[in-house]
Amino acid sequence: MNAPASSLVTAETLRSALAGLLDGLPARQAAQAVERLIANYRGATPTEAPILRDRADVAAYAAYRMPATFEAVRSALEAFADAVPGWAPGDHTDIGGGTGAAAWAVSATWAGERPVTVLDWAEPALALGRELAAANPALRQTRWHRSRIGSALTIESTDLVTVSYVLNELTAPDRAALVDAAAGAARSVVIVEPGTPDGYARVIEARDRLVSAGFRVAAPCPHSAACPIVPGTDWCHFSARVSRSSLHRQVKGGSLPYEDEKFGYVAATRVPVAPAPARVVRRPQIRKGQVLLDVCEKDPSLRRTTVTKRHGDLYRAARDTDWGDSWPPADDV
Ligand SMILES: C[S@@+](CC[C@H](N)C(=O)[O-])C[C@H]1O[C@@H](n2cnc3c(N)ncnc32)[C@H](O)[C@@H]1O
Repeated sequence: MNAPASSLVTAETLRSALAGLLDGLPARQAAQAVERLIANYRGATPTEAPILRDRADVAAYAAYRMPATFEAVRSALEAFADAVPGWAPGDHTDIGGGTGAAAWAVSATWAGERPVTVLDWAEPALALGRELAAANPALRQTRWHRSRIGSALTIESTDLVTVSYVLNELTAPDRAALVDAAAGAARSVVIVEPGTPDGYARVIEARDRLVSAGFRVAAPCPHSAACPIVPGTDWCHFSARVSRSSLHRQVKGGSLPYEDEKFGYVAATRVPVAPAPARVVRRPQIRKGQVLLDVCEKDPSLRRTTVTKRHGDLYRAARDTDWGDSWPPADDV
């Protein structure tokens, strides 16, 4: 999915705000903070207390992970926005928002300022989020509020709730409480998780709860019926390209200027919605004179379609189509 110019500007603003974060911190120390963080995130989650405990933790998180979570959420929101043309959130609440990646992604998707509330239990993450957001004029009206996700969570009525890379840190009852609270408070809910089989399972669980609460799925699915993937055989996920910072290269090695963040998501809404007729659910395979597209269709079913040179304009469109795009392109529907 290609980002529009305005969202590239926001991505660049975020990148330069993040670049300043580690100024003055010796490169070795920054890399060590990231390595400690990665080890903690690989440990047993959910936890009883925040993993992001101090400024070094959150600076490492923000510098290392925030560009990727931002791009994943931005990609999910772009697909959602395509399904609700003309709609824009009047306000936004980001739950487990940490340093604010989803607040940045919403501002990259819908122009203008809106009241934003970021909730998280890690005070150092909120503090750093506030600091970074000073570089983004669209985030001037943001409240950074300490709050614990659990059965006592209350969310004020809002147009849009985002929950990005959070469900994997919660117990099953807390996940359910969070999704139910979001469904009770928001007109639209967007949930993003790592693009793993477990992440997919959590997205499907949340999707089922939202549909039971009366929401319709806007993206990625072309329908709100059950997912056609047989559990355990595959998982629905997508990919967002992220420019790598020098810190990334230092920690992970290699010289590629980018990496691909795999993510899964669901965007569900109570506003009138026109989901994609079908969505490309794997990287298209381009062969000589033909493009193979794996698509999820309205029926619902998964199908491989082959578009050849003989299809003319449709073939040219297929060559420009990416994993995660709707199919066929809007002009051909
Ligand atoms: C992996 S980070 C994701 C942060 C941000 N949403 C993003 O996409 O970059 C998970 C966040 O969830 C927060 N979190 C985890 N469990 C929580 C809980 N029980 N209550 C509130 N926040 C929680 C963490 O403090 C952390 O900021």
